[in-house]
Amino acid sequence: MSLESIRYKRGNLEILDQLLLPLQTRYVKVQGVEDGWKVINKMQVRGAPAIAIVGCLSLAVELLKDEMDDKKVMRQEIEGKLNYLVSARPTAVNIKLAADELINLANTLSADDNVSSSEFKDRFIARIESMLAKDIEDNKAIGKFGSEAILSRLEGDRQVRILTHCNTGSLATAGYGTALGVIRSLHGSKRLEHVYCTETRPYNQGARLTAYELVHEKIPATLIVDSMVSALMHTRNITAVVVGADRVASNGDTANKIGTYQIAIVARHHDVPFYVAAPLSSIDMSLTSGDRIKIEERPDREMTHIGEHRIAAPGINCWNPSFDVTPANLITGIITEKGVFTPSRLKDEIPKYHSPIAS
Ligand code: MRU
Repeated sequence: MSLESIRYKRGNLEILDQLLLPLQTRYVKVQGVEDGWKVINKMQVRGAPAIAIVGCLSLAVELLKDEMDDKKVMRQEIEGKLNYLVSARPTAVNIKLAADELINLANTLSADDNVSSSEFKDRFIARIESMLAKDIEDNKAIGKFGSEAILSRLEGDRQVRILTHCNTGSLATAGYGTALGVIRSLHGSKRLEHVYCTETRPYNQGARLTAYELVHEKIPATLIVDSMVSALMHTRNITAVVVGADRVASNGDTANKIGTYQIAIVARHHDVPFYVAAPLSSIDMSLTSGDRIKIEERPDREMTHIGEHRIAAPGINCWNPSFDVTPANLITGIITEKGVFTPSRLKDEIPKYHSPIAS
């Protein structure tokens, strides 16, 4: 059975508490927008696509309970609540793009005299619900395009060794995963020899979550600590690096989990192709470059402690940016559900497709 980070039935939302993994599997009920904001901000749910889906579903759950029947008031409340949800974590763009699209939908439905308030609510909630299936479908397409791109660089039917960073699998999405979806697809076609995943300090998404998913899926994998990446590339004949993204600017600069940038530099030094796997809803065409991406800084405690256990000297200052920006010139290709694009092609190609959630 595949791992499920989000459980949803109309009116009922639960998320797998990722703070407790891998030692405990416990689902937390999300009863509305306030709970949605908290589980995102505390990182009980994390990963750009999962943040967007859980945030929007928390609004769907709240709306269903709401007795409001004035469409104008509903529209106003929706806008306020979506903007609030977007503020829970600033770097991943998926929730912002989904919120913008949902606000547009609310504007259209509220202005249409042929749409009753109950129809407004129903259509709005259905639109949010469609995000779940769309995300899985997109991830499968990313997996297929990504594995084809990696294999097309090889001669014969050689097997591949992949390095990945952070967590981009079922736990970070509605299912299947983005970069982990590419790995899953390579494994499915029997071309994956081995995957290496970084520990991903300080929050350890790699050691706690990716390693957990890889073991669960019986994919041949080895955990390394972040400082082993150069040694790994020098000695282990890595075929490609595949990572996820939290926000891709229109020039291809990509914000992803802290440490991604240094892996891209090491990959370039060793002539290893470096791919970013991300749905179109991670591409922010409004930003011309990565310098404009707001980087979230997280509490010192994530560095100084592991669980309740202090590991850093008391009194030391800490700097804890959660993401860094990999410049486009270090990225071989951006793997999306519509194909693989070199960063310089985003500006021409992406506007043709851009619609973060299904209609
Ligand atoms: O801080 P996190 O755990 O939310 O960061 C997650 C990442 O950086 C992922 O690589 C990214 O969101 C892609 S998830 C498919």
